[in-house]
Amino acid sequence: MSERERSARRVAVSRRGHGWTRQTLQDRFDCVVGEPDELMAMDEAERASIAGFATLMSPVDAGLIDALPNLKIIASFGVGYDHVDAAHAAQRGVVVTHTPHVLDDEVADTAIGLLLNTLRELPRAEIWLRMGKWSSEGAYPLTPLTLRDRKVGIFGLGRIGMAVARRLEGFGVAIHYHNRSQRDDVAYPYHATLASLAHACDTLISVVPGTAQTRHAIDADILARLGPDGVLVNVGRGSVVDETALGEALRAGTIAAAGLDVFEDEPNVPQALLDAPNACLLPHVASASVHTRQAMGQLVIDNLAEWFERGTVRTPVPE
Ligand code: DGY
Repeated sequence: MSERERSARRVAVSRRGHGWTRQTLQDRFDCVVGEPDELMAMDEAERASIAGFATLMSPVDAGLIDALPNLKIIASFGVGYDHVDAAHAAQRGVVVTHTPHVLDDEVADTAIGLLLNTLRELPRAEIWLRMGKWSSEGAYPLTPLTLRDRKVGIFGLGRIGMAVARRLEGFGVAIHYHNRSQRDDVAYPYHATLASLAHACDTLISVVPGTAQTRHAIDADILARLGPDGVLVNVGRGSVVDETALGEALRAGTIAAAGLDVFEDEPNVPQALLDAPNACLLPHVASASVHTRQAMGQLVIDNLAEWFERGTVRTPVPE
């Protein structure tokens, strides 16, 4: 391959993220490794040589897109792509891809695990044991919350939401949902608004992506509708929850508990949530398994390769 051909396929790879993916990209493509601020600091000729950006969760804003005049494709690692200004990319004719489907089962498993851990206080009970309190203080106190007879509302009944619903069926709980539109392939009660869903349920599982429309959709009003036995689980995006309102709802007992895998300003977790004994907190691990991370990385690689070879991609982000 000539130097001209190679440079027409040069791929910037963000430094952060999944090691196997980064290494495989470096083996397959002519790569420049750097975070967005490092790319911005490159000289004009270097920036002009970049045709693709494989972002492993690093932000790609309008300024970066404009600073890379020959950028053709942004291949993002993850199903959520709120860290990419996809609207600006579309305006500039830059294709954006993501990595859906391959993580549905792991995210759904984590949602169920987080729900059970939040209700049954399993992480706290384990800490009790490890601190020696079982022998010094006796049995762990009886937990007030259980999954029995709960009405579970799923916010976002796409592929991941459906995987959560299928798992929940095994627990015999009532399942309701709110989605942009009603599905004709399920019999679960549909709610045209999130407020109606929260009113009908005592448990809310959010799997929606972070967008301008979903930002802070779960606010003080929605939490109050869940009631004092209410439980919120979020494995979608942190920006969907008004974390100030949630911290206050947990403190005041407006709802009973929350299980959160995602936060608005990761890796920063609001102090009110860290201080809440009735919150079960995870460091954004819903999709994190060796299998899934490799499958996500493979999709990043396949999208880039297909784009450079045929001008098509496998998994573009929705329009
Ligand atoms: C995703 O794919 O968007 C996940 O949140 C990443 O772990």
